[in-house]
Amino acid sequence: MDIEKLIKKAIENKKNAYVPYSNFHVSSIVITEDGSIYEGVNIENASYPATLCAERSAISSAITAGHKRINTIIITGDSEYTYPCGICRQVMSEFMDENSKIIIAKNEKDYKQYTLDEILPMSFNKEDLKEE
Ligand code: THU
Repeated sequence: MDIEKLIKKAIENKKNAYVPYSNFHVSSIVITEDGSIYEGVNIENASYPATLCAERSAISSAITAGHKRINTIIITGDSEYTYPCGICRQVMSEFMDENSKIIIAKNEKDYKQYTLDEILPMSFNKEDLKEE
């Protein structure tokens, strides 16, 4: 599937976001290293901090299915361009690298593309844990 079709699908999925508290819909689709596709939406909770963002919802599905590397993540939400929160950027950094693409989509014709380093520079990652 091409990126435009996946963006369209992500926008369609926004209707499935469970957002009774914020009414702010976010949807994400990840493409793994072998081209498999996983979808996620934000899932809110009466205990607000228990809310799961769309990006982490999609990434969880990919990892649950056995994947370890993510090539592309598409994010679309109710603002013109919905950027990932800090926690999601950190989770993305665990499974993405300098070749991965982060696509922030307004619609299938209008989207911005970033690298991980652009959206999360000077990050803390598993390499740090190896240092003495
Ligand atoms: N949200 C996401 O799903 N992803 C983000 O990266 C930003 C925030 C959700 C969480 C909450 O359900 C709603 O947007 C408002 O914060």
